Amino acid sequence: DALIFLPKLIFTGKELIGENVERITRRMGDLRDVFEDKAAFEVMDPNLIAYHVSSIFPVKEGTPGGLFMGITYLMPGKVGDEYFMTKGHFHSNIDRAEFYWGVEGEGMLILMNEARDVWAERMYPGSLHYIPGGIAHRVANVGNSILTFAASWPSDAGHNYGIIAREGFARRLKEVNGKPELI
Ligand code: F6R
Ligand code: ZN
Repeated sequence: DALIFLPKLIFTGKELIGENVERITRRMGDLRDVFEDKAAFEVMDPNLIAYHVSSIFPVKEGTPGGLFMGITYLMPGKVGDEYFMTKGHFHSNIDRAEFYWGVEGEGMLILMNEARDVWAERMYPGSLHYIPGGIAHRVANVGNSILTFAASWPSDAGHNYGIIAREGFARRLKEVNGKPELI
């Protein structure tokens, strides 16, 4: 089962369990700020699972010099003409970078700098994405199956969801004539 793959990873010979591993689930009800089409959002089941994130924390959050790793499982689906997507964030220590890489399924990594320029990269099994510091990041599932991607980020990065929750991304990824397009 892919969802329990991560906790079985071995870290320097010791199996990571308990406090070192966390699995969070985001449901539609947690994604109120994300989608533009409020009418389409309101008729959706707020308990519907949008994504899980299984993460490994080999060191304490905030430790300089360490790394975290997580796997996100993003469900397929749409709200109006927008694909299911992650909340998206800047890092709290805004200059901290991150790697994302595609494991299964089809996605788009949506990126935005502090000047609010937006661009996107196609995610697919084996795709590798370097997200420099200062770049907000969010992923949309543009396929019909689960999108799985992994991420690794510095243990002192932190997450700032506030800016994106308030102001969103400057462009939205929508399905236009059956294809994803940034608008
Ligand atoms: C960590 C990171 C990913 C995301 C995950 C869920 O810095 O970027 O592990 O946390 O893909 O997305 P958010 O956190 O935006 O809900
Ligand atoms: Zn991040």
